[in-house]
Amino acid sequence: MVPQQAVWAEIDTPAPLIDVAQLDRNIAAMADAFALGPVSLRPHAKTHKCSAIALRQIAAGAIGITCAKVGEAEALAHPDIDDILIANEIVGPLKIARLVALARRSRITVAVDDAGNVAELSSGAASAGVTIGILVDLDVGMGRAGVATIEAAVALAHRVAGSAGLRFRGLMGYEGHVVDERALVQRHEGTRAALEKLSAARRAVEKSGLTVECLSAGGTGTYAVTSGWPDLTEAQVGSYVFMDANYRAIEGMEAFAPSLTVLATVMSRPTPTTVIVDAGLKAMGSEYAAAELLDFPQAHCIYLSEEHGRFDFPADPGLHLGDKVRVLPPHGCTTSNLHDRYYALREGDVEIWPIEARGRCQ
Ligand SMILES: Cc1ncc(COP(=O)(O)O)c(C=O)c1O
Repeated sequence: MVPQQAVWAEIDTPAPLIDVAQLDRNIAAMADAFALGPVSLRPHAKTHKCSAIALRQIAAGAIGITCAKVGEAEALAHPDIDDILIANEIVGPLKIARLVALARRSRITVAVDDAGNVAELSSGAASAGVTIGILVDLDVGMGRAGVATIEAAVALAHRVAGSAGLRFRGLMGYEGHVVDERALVQRHEGTRAALEKLSAARRAVEKSGLTVECLSAGGTGTYAVTSGWPDLTEAQVGSYVFMDANYRAIEGMEAFAPSLTVLATVMSRPTPTTVIVDAGLKAMGSEYAAAELLDFPQAHCIYLSEEHGRFDFPADPGLHLGDKVRVLPPHGCTTSNLHDRYYALREGDVEIWPIEARGRCQ
């Protein structure tokens, strides 16, 4: 097998590296967690934005993918990635025209939280002769999109069910306010509270005479609860494939390990205990946590500036100019958005995996 450093020597930096064996272990671990339960996996592709990874998730049993944007869905739609939930509100004629075009070639479901938006989706879909699946988005505590109350969810569900070109499929509610809560007990309590509201909404909609075939929720940190929640039908877990520094720091994630790093070159050694690398904010997303050096746990990230990362060590780490190091990005989803391709490493071989949905935020 070719040594790791010899493979890295061929890759210019900064560059997103995937450890394919670890990626596959993460995919298998999440598939195992959901294998026996009532809930299916529909992984959120906004984390990786890459059809090669989506296809691995589907091969491991996922029923389709989740996207955040029409642009992501357009970029990732594929004969084997043909069942796509856009877990977001799609508003305005420009986006709806593209959504309708996409619905001609894929099974598309989107979220709604507004009657006016239901009307514009209905008129776009009906005039094009396509059907768009709809989930009513319920705010389960995050305070982002979604109707606030169960009564509003029931009313909107009936509005959807009576609209041409739309098919009412069910409800979604993303518990994003608790997904990365560090303490497991509090995280699970918060998750149960969120899911109880979603379950109550499901019961209310069913009592009002509609069938709920889909109830969707779930992020990485809450998988141990969502995988066993009997009312849910699918989970939108995303970050588990990569396990960034933010998620690695929370309790209860032992089944997963980092598979995405940013390869960086040591470009300056201003003092024996300071290492400057050529990867900064333009190479990785850093909203939630500090960057780490995967192979040097004693390193402490002082800051990332645009093109530099500064790491301080308790003692000289023996790194020299030109050495390559793996930086664990604080946030995987925004890191993938900064690159055109992954360097996927497996037993000394490098494959290039295009990040097709990178930058597709429209
Ligand atoms: C609506 C929605 N669903 C699912 C996810 C996936 O969450 P995670 O990355 O924690 O797995 C996100 C992440 O932001 C999201 O916004």
